[in-house]
Amino acid sequence: MQTNQIELGWYLFYDRRLSINNTRSCGTCHNPQFAFTDGYKRSLGAFADLHNRNTQPLFNLNNLKYLTAADSNIHSALQQIENPLFNEHVIEMGVKRHEVEILNRIITDSHYQSLFTKAGYSFNWKYIKLAISQFEQQLVSYNAPYDKFINGDTGALNASEKAGKNLFFSAALQCASCHGGKNFTTPIFTEKTKDTVYYYNIGLYNVNNNNEYPLYDQGLYEQTKNTNDMGKFRVPTLRNLAFTAPYFHDGSAASLQDVISHYASGGRIITSGEYIGNGNKNIFKHPFIKGFSLTEKEKLNLINFLLSLSDSSFVKNPLYQNPFTEDETKY
Ligand code: HEC
Ligand code: HEC
Repeated sequence: MQTNQIELGWYLFYDRRLSINNTRSCGTCHNPQFAFTDGYKRSLGAFADLHNRNTQPLFNLNNLKYLTAADSNIHSALQQIENPLFNEHVIEMGVKRHEVEILNRIITDSHYQSLFTKAGYSFNWKYIKLAISQFEQQLVSYNAPYDKFINGDTGALNASEKAGKNLFFSAALQCASCHGGKNFTTPIFTEKTKDTVYYYNIGLYNVNNNNEYPLYDQGLYEQTKNTNDMGKFRVPTLRNLAFTAPYFHDGSAASLQDVISHYASGGRIITSGEYIGNGNKNIFKHPFIKGFSLTEKEKLNLINFLLSLSDSSFVKNPLYQNPFTEDETKY
């Protein structure tokens, strides 16, 4: 159901006037067709600065313990929204120091005056942030074939998807040990080391065989400066992968085939270029990433299972699409 508050947030989410130069809305990077990602490896902010991360999808956000790929301080959409709006490194929307000017663009628009009034919200940034976060929090996706299957419709998965499911939950592959819970984001084992237990180095890099990740993004280490956190990232959801390529925190896997090859070889081996190195030998890699051998058919089954976690009714939901017409968003 779309309440007045969510309706306000829906417009604001897609309004490019919220960025310094009218070029970016939340929706330019978070497009509903791609489960609120954008198809790029790494996206460009309002001044075309390259973001260090791949855009995360937006759904079931209330179910996440941590938001963003490697910041254990962010626990809600309302907290996270400070980043895109006000970040200066990298600039996403560039609101910082232009708060008054941008607020004026919104509150002088008669359509917003009526939306704010209907929502019972005052005309200020606090309520802009609140309304957008309310829009985000009702983006819910639990209608994939796999959901139908676990709710009792045994025909919702075909033979290949069922075979892939067995591989995913097998002791040999260990996928479900990290990708646990109903969003496949929650590790099912615990370690003694506090919060950071939710973050893992899966051996994507081993730059110059120094056990490092590329300097532009070294994961949880950026926050803690603890060497043991080198290359550790949050366990991402596996829902809606059909719409969210490319994969990994930096978009460095173009396809699910690439992702499976990475896991099968127990780490990624990069043989040329600036990130040359054998990820398999990164000493910070989690021991569960140990490699395995599957036939081509089994790999395909595993991929088909992953794709059965995708919910096409979610990406088509009319209440999630951009409410502006092209002309209205050209300023
Ligand atoms: C320039 C592209 C861009 C714009 C504009 C943008 N985002 Fe994002 N968004 C990203 C990227 C990249 C990430 C991943 C950040 C990370 O993991 O550190 C992200 C992550 C997020 C997350 C975290 C999701 C999760 O699973 O933890 C939320 C929530 C979010 N954005 C909401 C918004 C909202 C709301 C706006 C508008 C106010 C917005 N974004 C504007 C690129 C963008
Ligand atoms: C040790 C914990 C762990 C295990 C075991 C594990 N994963 Fe992951 N997975 C992660 C983490 C952490 C990431 C994010 C890594 C990054 O981006 O640097 C990830 C990323 C992914 C992604 C990319 C998702 C996206 O949107 O970018 C897919 C797909 C995936 N894993 C599938 C699997 C499959 C299939 C298996 C079993 C073969 C598996 N994982 C085993 C922790 C794990």
